[in-house]
Amino acid sequence: MSREHKEISQEDLSAVLELVQKRYGFDFTQYARSSMKRRMQRIMENFGLPSVFELKHKLLNDELFFEVFVEEITVNVTEMFRDPFFYKELREKVIPQLESYPSVKIWHAGCSSGEEVYSLAIMLHECGLLERSRIYATDINSQVLNRARAGIFDLRHMKDYTLNYIAAGGTGNFSDYYTAKYDQAIFKKELKEPMIFSIHNLVADKSFNEFNLILCRNVLIYFNEHLQNQVISLFSESLCPFGYLALGSKESLLFYHDRDRYETISRMSKLFKLVR
Ligand SMILES: C[S@@+](CC[C@H](N)C(=O)[O-])C[C@H]1O[C@@H](n2cnc3c(N)ncnc32)[C@H](O)[C@@H]1O
Repeated sequence: MSREHKEISQEDLSAVLELVQKRYGFDFTQYARSSMKRRMQRIMENFGLPSVFELKHKLLNDELFFEVFVEEITVNVTEMFRDPFFYKELREKVIPQLESYPSVKIWHAGCSSGEEVYSLAIMLHECGLLERSRIYATDINSQVLNRARAGIFDLRHMKDYTLNYIAAGGTGNFSDYYTAKYDQAIFKKELKEPMIFSIHNLVADKSFNEFNLILCRNVLIYFNEHLQNQVISLFSESLCPFGYLALGSKESLLFYHDRDRYETISRMSKLFKLVR
């Protein structure tokens, strides 16, 4: 933190979040506070805003700045086949169970720019399930969803993603799934066919379908305990009987009041099955 900027107090943080809620209708009040403060501090430094007063003024009057604010607060970091072992376990322990259904509905909640959605589509294709699948991919942030819809990622990442793909148990040739053009990797349109991208706010929006598998990875970690409970309740309402829930490596069902409804499929990969 630079010396000119005082640390943001709890009161200031609450005041900024209240303003955001009133002006834009986004409720970030139940996000984990310490990381929120850090991110807000960073925005102030990057935009040369000397105090919370200036931050509030800019938020009130500059809608484009608000979009940057949301990007920073919501953390969009992602990658293809992130935590390859998770994908390996998904392939071995969950996909075979989904094969018995005539059609499969999947929800990626908090999908960011879509790298995990394309990863799963590749896996479903290799398991012969893609044609029978509908993949709903949602996020609070419209900017990242536009990137996800395009399915064009930075070519420089493909080397790492190839290693992830192999470690995840990929059975084909990763480079067959995209065309390289200049510095871009353009993913095949066949992968996109079952995908539906849409804005959905996990804090405020309701269940919109019944799914065989819900993936919400590296999202709950930014929420407080109360909000984690609320969001997992939403997933429980949105899963078919015996549907699967996948969380991120640092996440769990610990704060969910009805966690006995789930059976643990893999403790390490945070894979759960709704059994009651
Ligand atoms: C760190 S990324 C995780 C991306 C991907 N799931 C992964 O594991 O690589 C967190 C995503 O959650 C989204 N997010 C944060 N709050 C949300 C909310 N209330 N509703 C829906 N998405 C939200 C962010 O916009 C961001 O794209």
